[in-house]
Amino acid sequence: MKFSFQFKEYSPKTEEVYGTILTLGNGYIGIRGEIELEPTIYGTTVLGIYDYTPCFYREIVNAPRVIGLGMMFNGEPLNLSTHKLLKYEKELDIGEGSLKTWIELETNRGARISYESLRIVHGKRKNVAVLKFKFKTDKKGLLTLINPIDVDVANPSYRPEILVRHCYAEELDFGEGFIYAGVKTIDKKYTLGIASSLVTDEKASRSVVKSANGIAEVLSIEVEANRVYEFVKYVVISSERAPALKDKTLKELGEIKKLGFDKLFVDHRKYWSEIWKKAKVEIDGDKGAEKGLNFSLFHLIQSLPRDSNISLTARGTHGFGYRGHVFWDTEIYALPFFIAVFPEDAKRMLIYRYRNLEAAKKNAKLNGYEGAQFPWESADDGYEATPSLVPLDMAGKEVVRIYTGEEEHHITADIAYTVDFYYKFTNDEDFMAKYGLEIIFETTRFWASRVEFDEKKGYVIKKVIGPDEYHEHVDNNFFTNLMAKHNLLLGVTYYKRALNKGGSWKETVDRVGVREEEVQKWSEISEKIYLPPQVDGVFEEFDGYFDLEDYTVDPHDIGEARLPEEIRKKIGKTKLIKQADVIAAQYLLKDQFDIETIKKNFDYYIVRTTHASSLSMPAYSIVASWLGYEDLAYEYFMKCAYIELKNLYGNTHDGFHLATAGGVWQVLFRGFCGIDIEENSIKIAPRLPSKWKAVKFGFSFRGIWLEIKITPKEVAVRSAGGKEAIRLNIVGEELFLGPNEQIVASL
Ligand code: BGC
Repeated sequence: MKFSFQFKEYSPKTEEVYGTILTLGNGYIGIRGEIELEPTIYGTTVLGIYDYTPCFYREIVNAPRVIGLGMMFNGEPLNLSTHKLLKYEKELDIGEGSLKTWIELETNRGARISYESLRIVHGKRKNVAVLKFKFKTDKKGLLTLINPIDVDVANPSYRPEILVRHCYAEELDFGEGFIYAGVKTIDKKYTLGIASSLVTDEKASRSVVKSANGIAEVLSIEVEANRVYEFVKYVVISSERAPALKDKTLKELGEIKKLGFDKLFVDHRKYWSEIWKKAKVEIDGDKGAEKGLNFSLFHLIQSLPRDSNISLTARGTHGFGYRGHVFWDTEIYALPFFIAVFPEDAKRMLIYRYRNLEAAKKNAKLNGYEGAQFPWESADDGYEATPSLVPLDMAGKEVVRIYTGEEEHHITADIAYTVDFYYKFTNDEDFMAKYGLEIIFETTRFWASRVEFDEKKGYVIKKVIGPDEYHEHVDNNFFTNLMAKHNLLLGVTYYKRALNKGGSWKETVDRVGVREEEVQKWSEISEKIYLPPQVDGVFEEFDGYFDLEDYTVDPHDIGEARLPEEIRKKIGKTKLIKQADVIAAQYLLKDQFDIETIKKNFDYYIVRTTHASSLSMPAYSIVASWLGYEDLAYEYFMKCAYIELKNLYGNTHDGFHLATAGGVWQVLFRGFCGIDIEENSIKIAPRLPSKWKAVKFGFSFRGIWLEIKITPKEVAVRSAGGKEAIRLNIVGEELFLGPNEQIVASL
């Protein structure tokens, strides 16, 4: 696939945005896209490496900067801002996962310098990053190159000027052809082995400098005028607990140097070409949509952790927004793409939740509940990581009290929802027996203990925060109650299935100790759980919502900045909502509503939603598309697909909005293509944007890879393999797709 994105501006401000949108990662190492020649606060992120921090519990560590490069010519440091910058170009090629840079400078002493680099974070070798670069000048002289492992890094905290250092160098070492830093987190939980080597065929003298900032090797070369000099900087980062960490790290450095850049690059390109064979979405008639969508997928895929010790985080390895914490963003917004396209990877992320089930049980107990209560924000240990107080000023005099950790309980049901979604897609019996069923039973237990019985209303859920976070401490939030009900029903359904199936499923029931009377209670609660009433067809978002002051907004705009100050100040007392809430519930549990009801709710809430959260537009876009609001559905889809490229929320520098990236794919899949996975079939009822001539992509259904092509006139589905026929329902028509067959249905 050939998709590249070019950027030509240079300023500290654009660099911050480029930092995020040009991040390269491989699910283990993440390196932001700032130019290697300038200093930056951003080091390297290594997925799964966390440390304690004031206010935010644990956060992803800003690990040593390994991509930096110092360059001097005849004693002049070649910084971009201190010389005349004649050319600055960057290109991200998402087809091959590379970042290229071209720079031309005229130095203050009149030398003209050309610099060109190519950066990769290796797809197949998770510990490896490589920078290849070329240097040319029109004068002869002394080129000095500094290749540092910079351990003087820290995380920005609640104020950018407050920095929290999370690691220190335990060992700095060097030898012929390597520099090495053994780095530990302050809590001593993790150790990183980092090795690097700067290689050239030219005659160079080498020295090594150790300092409080880390270790660096320095190459000095007498260069001739107008000749191109080539260099390769190899980096290996490893965090295995093995005592032989240093030996292993250096061994891999030796291996990759021996292989050389070209071979590594061929392998890396192969990795991405394999990925795109599955992930690519082709849209005929709308190149803008195609580019934005695949760009979103590229960043989503790069952020997918390789190990189940952590899951996909809200802002990826792209920045420190939300401190590398895992939210409902992962299960509800990002995971469906992985479940459909890379189910094995999706499984790993669900196993992350399973690994933290004990912590979730402790969390429930701590709060006086039973079963497992997943934290609203989760880090590497599965305990609640949401800050409850965040200072606004340096002295900590003004603070914001955050209640989401205490009250945003729907995440527990969201996780159970996605476990079921995964099973529907994959039929992965083994996963369910080992992990999934237990998650479902323990979360059901949580809800059974979380509800209270009210004589008039039935089972109620008090004092929560729904997805709409403007309203805190509310009773009977529509989304929460409906998802809790769904969770309870899943508990009942999977219990019955397990008894029917017997074998390992039944063993899980016994292991978890689920009893018949308990299940009867779940069933009773799910039947009697209170759902806020409808007024003129519209569900009240929570008890008392309809009594609040009304205020409406233009659905084509986003955020709170457009609101008058007096409204902003009392936003929680108005009917304005931050993001899809009732509508998010209707999109997730679509079958429970008729289209008229969905329409009434959509029409009501769309003009009361600020979309201050980037999670809002994907849900509204999907539902808008079901309702035939094509323009709005498409407008939101495009805004989401370009959220970072246009810095739509003004906070792109904090990392990539990965929930939105996953949401963009869901708009395609569930919205425009109208695909729903039912108990025993795949339902397809497309409503393509009118300018789309065709859309083509693939996904895996119960182990069978399907290629789907939709045009305004027909739907074609081709299956690659499998043993049994798949039941399809294409706009109401029942069809069976046999192994290796293609079906074409007219629309
Ligand atoms: C949203 C949440 C989301 C979180 C992390 C908040 O602004 O309201 O729904 O989980 O950001 O993305």
